[in-house]
Amino acid sequence: MRSFFAALALALALPAGAFADSDGELLGDAERGADVFRKCTGCHKVGPDAPNRAGPHLNEIFGRKAGSIEGFKYSKSMQRAFGDGLVWDAETLDAYIENPRALISGTRMSFRGLKDPQDRHDVLAYLRQFTASPQNIPEAAPTANAHEVVLSPEILAIVGDAEYGEYLAAECLTCHKRSGSDDGIPSIVNWYEEDFVVAMHAYKRKVRPHPVMQMMASRLSDEEIAALAAYFAKIEQDG
Ligand code: HEC
Ligand code: HEC
Repeated sequence: MRSFFAALALALALPAGAFADSDGELLGDAERGADVFRKCTGCHKVGPDAPNRAGPHLNEIFGRKAGSIEGFKYSKSMQRAFGDGLVWDAETLDAYIENPRALISGTRMSFRGLKDPQDRHDVLAYLRQFTASPQNIPEAAPTANAHEVVLSPEILAIVGDAEYGEYLAAECLTCHKRSGSDDGIPSIVNWYEEDFVVAMHAYKRKVRPHPVMQMMASRLSDEEIAALAAYFAKIEQDG
């Protein structure tokens, strides 16, 4: 099974170096960002010798692999993101700070997210100052705006047809177990429908890095994603 995934991952891997070398539109006003960062300081420190608190320190966060601070106890989901090779850049940070669960479903960061794009871009500009050698660091994909995981109210309002979802789910269940048992492939049963929809769109928009799931999600329409969300939200865990 492992080698199957490895081969598939290789076959599907997208050119990774597609980064703009400008600062992109995702970095705002660092001074204002220092203020916005007060929403984070209850859990995160940044600056010389910043320690870990409830959250990991945020020095050198640009270009840092997700979940990579030694000795910090990350959630299982963050450890999986580390295994998938998720790297923090302006784009992935923007998505995570906007809605942590869009990027990392089971994240322990209990933070509602910053919905105002200006707030996010300012706080990113602030954090950017604590990453050395900026010239080597990817800032954001050129198409950053298309990658946003903010879903329009119309997408979120689609009422999923659970019966159609059951039909579509057959393919998913070749990997994801009904019982939700968790051997490298995460459980997708009994989720909140909205979290499920947001996660699938994050693969579809390639903000989440997993190539197999990106391919799966890219083939699904908004209605199909809603149908799957409705089905998996109600599925019995019958082993
Ligand atoms: C209530 C506490 C809390 C608040 C508030 C909070 N975070 Fe976090 N943050 C965490 C925790 C806990 C983690 C580790 C998450 C995990 O393991 O799933 C984390 C992880 C992160 C990571 C990933 C770090 C890594 O090593 O991969 C970033 C980046 C981050 N937070 C940024 C922010 C920013 C920016 C803010 C403010 C806008 C913020 N956080 C607010 C608790 C918090
Ligand atoms: C070839 C095996 C395979 C198939 C088929 C598959 N998945 Fe996945 N899925 C995975 C793996 C592996 C992960 C973990 C990816 C990651 O780390 O981001 C995953 C992750 C997910 C997640 C995010 C879980 C989390 O905890 O963040 C969702 C939601 C999901 N899959 C839904 C689906 C749906 C819906 C289908 C069917 C349309 C499907 N998957 C088909 C292997 C598969």
